[in-house]
Amino acid sequence: MSVFELGSLRFAVEHRSVGDDGGPTVRVRAPAKGDRELLRFDCFERGAHFHVDPSGADAITPLAAHVDAIAWCLSELRRDLAGYLERAGYALPESPARDALDATLARVEAEMRNPPIDFDDLDVAALRESPGEKWALYPADVLPAWVADMDLPVAAPIRRVLRRSVDRSYLGYPVNPRPQDLPTLFAARARERYGWKLRPGRVEVITDVVQGIYVALQQFAQRGEGVVFQTPIYPPFFDAVRETQRRAVESPLVAGAAGYEIDFDELRASLDPGTRILLLSHPHNPTGRVFTRSELEALAELAVERDLLIVSDEIHADLVFSGHTHIPIATLGPEVEQRTLTLMSASKAFNSAGLRCAVAACGSDALARRFNELPRHTRGGINALGLAATDAAWRHAQPWLDRALRHLEANRDFAAAFLAERLPQVRCFPPEATYLAWLDCRALGLSPSPYEFFLEHARVALSDGRRFGKTGEGFVRLNFATSRAILTDALERMARAVDARA
Ligand SMILES: Cc1ncc(COP(=O)(O)O)c(C=O)c1O
Repeated sequence: MSVFELGSLRFAVEHRSVGDDGGPTVRVRAPAKGDRELLRFDCFERGAHFHVDPSGADAITPLAAHVDAIAWCLSELRRDLAGYLERAGYALPESPARDALDATLARVEAEMRNPPIDFDDLDVAALRESPGEKWALYPADVLPAWVADMDLPVAAPIRRVLRRSVDRSYLGYPVNPRPQDLPTLFAARARERYGWKLRPGRVEVITDVVQGIYVALQQFAQRGEGVVFQTPIYPPFFDAVRETQRRAVESPLVAGAAGYEIDFDELRASLDPGTRILLLSHPHNPTGRVFTRSELEALAELAVERDLLIVSDEIHADLVFSGHTHIPIATLGPEVEQRTLTLMSASKAFNSAGLRCAVAACGSDALARRFNELPRHTRGGINALGLAATDAAWRHAQPWLDRALRHLEANRDFAAAFLAERLPQVRCFPPEATYLAWLDCRALGLSPSPYEFFLEHARVALSDGRRFGKTGEGFVRLNFATSRAILTDALERMARAVDARA
């Protein structure tokens, strides 16, 4: 139970199961009156209701089934707390200041919407039932640690809105062209998190980030023109360039003392006059680098000098670990912003990739016009559930994300320590972001490749480094977004397979 004090009042939030129903309960008590319970809102999934004076007369009022109980309860408390208390026979000695009431109710709401969650409580048998490709594509004795989906249960606010959408048949066409005003929500979040003053009118809702990359390549470069990116790289970067008949210009990252770095001399040399686009993965998949301000400034300077459009895939922006800060490259200044298209989504950080919803933030009206010249119907539509889930994630699920990040960071540290002890020949710079670890297995000389070796002998499915470009030869990518037990099992299997080979 979590308790929040406000003047003479105490708000206590608890998550309850009652028969086949349940959900968050908020109790309002008066400690000075023997801690008497004055109000109780049971925001249950099915039979939501509230009690006035539950310790005494206990008047119970059910809420209509279509009402969003949590939102309703909070708006009533905001609107007329004193009135409700009066009905419970309690006269507030003094009304709380509006700011203090709002701040307390915001904390109450965050707690109500985000029940405790144990990310280690995962059941392999249940995960194997998942129809998603992570668990479905390999035989049942293989542990999957490949595609960037998490095994972690999705945040309660997302589950709640999806259940509600289905229960209430909210499955019609979403409102276009400003779907549920996700652009305004995204802009507000960008301002709060990054100080990024973004105009909602330049934010386009798209189906997914990779779609945004394809649209950008098509709209901002001609066939045969160059698209430069840092390798190793998320494989769809190669696919997008090839399939749109643009030309890949590879800029290999180099292993420095503390992690992978951009070799700016090499990058500069690789840019020919036909290169039009810098396609950035930031934070970088698969290395987990969070590029620093000075690295981003050097990239932006080069983009300005060579008149490149920056397409910045920042889908992992919310998955940054302690000690690092994500800086959207578009925030470096107006000259950079106006040549930048930023692609973001809730889908990686909130584990909802199958719902298909992302945003493209265009740095100028001209970019927005050009991006949107490709007719919407050729791009596919927007999913009503994806919109609802993204809205719920950004509006309400930050407490879940904070907890998930702590879990992921602990898994990262555990994997690094395990590798150092049991597989010391595998080299890995602990990622600064993402839940993906890029493992350099070259010193082990695994045959025919580390991917095939670990699949066959450890029964662990990793991502094959060769799919990330030439510099991925001898590497695999490990997805550690799972329970500690499953991660330990995967790493143990890998270590035993290597030991057995000797
Ligand atoms: C860097 C990067 N971009 C894009 C995506 C996929 O985004 P979407 O599913 O929105 O196309 C991923 C998925 O892992 C990714 O790592």
